[in-house]
Amino acid sequence: MKVALVTGASRGLGAVIARELAKAGWAVAVNYANDTQGAEAIADSIRQGGRTAHAAKFSVIDQMALTHGLEDIRATLGPVDLIVNNATGPQPDMPLMEQSWRSYLDQLEFFVKAPLELLQAVLPDWRARKSGRVINIGSEIAELGNPFVGNYAAAKGAMLSMTRSWARELAPEGITVNLVAPGWIPVERHAGAAQQAIDTYLGQTPLGRFGTPEELAHMVVFLASSKADFITGQKFAVNGGRTLL
Ligand SMILES: NC(=O)c1ccc[n+]([C@@H]2O[C@H](COP(=O)([O-])OP(=O)(O)OC[C@H]3O[C@@H](n4cnc5c(N)ncnc54)[C@H](OP(=O)(O)O)[C@@H]3O)[C@@H](O)[C@H]2O)c1
Repeated sequence: MKVALVTGASRGLGAVIARELAKAGWAVAVNYANDTQGAEAIADSIRQGGRTAHAAKFSVIDQMALTHGLEDIRATLGPVDLIVNNATGPQPDMPLMEQSWRSYLDQLEFFVKAPLELLQAVLPDWRARKSGRVINIGSEIAELGNPFVGNYAAAKGAMLSMTRSWARELAPEGITVNLVAPGWIPVERHAGAAQQAIDTYLGQTPLGRFGTPEELAHMVVFLASSKADFITGQKFAVNGGRTLL
């Protein structure tokens, strides 16, 4: 059975991506850093559905923990075939003059450093096998340039550029790299969002509604499948038509 690592899968989009990949036949490592109860519940629900999952606790921004985490996954599920870079830390809104360089590094650690170190850890194995997949979870904000989140937007923009460069470099070795860019897809952390923010957002969304985590996950499952063998270096917006570029 092929093994998928979904980072940040104890809740939110990652949890649903993990569930949908498991339904599609992947053995899934449900990564998280803090919420053991949440991650175990996701892994349990996958196993109850007759599929294979393992809750894999390690912080993706700690290289030593990441290395040990991948060893643990290899011992439990087997070598990783697919990495879904989904984990995120806090994404606080702040005016430009309050945005420290450290706040930019905080975002880059999740969206550039962690994906880089994960890829480097598995690449010798993927090169030997001439296969492997990376799916990065980006954001429409990289293109739309929302105010007060220059640090987050910069890191998601870097993630997109990195996706394209990695795709070209690794294509000759049978490894594909793509990015899925969600719009605002409500998850647990959005409970209590202001009605005005919701109305404004939906007013600017051609399809006039929010997407669901499952709709986002279906794109990931497709890109992970053999149906997407000829697709690499691409960005797929799942946002109801908000970025028609
Ligand atoms: N939801 C949206 O509207 C939306 C829109 C655009 C883009 N996105 C992108 O989609 C991805 C998922 O977003 P989300 O809304 O689902 O986020 P979320 O609900 O806040 O979930 C974040 C996940 O990351 C994990 N995490 C936090 N720190 C970690 C660390 N150091 N190492 C490993 N895991 C860690 C959290 O688990 P623990 O707390 O247990 O560690 C949690 O499972 C992010 O990349 C985000 O930027 C989301």
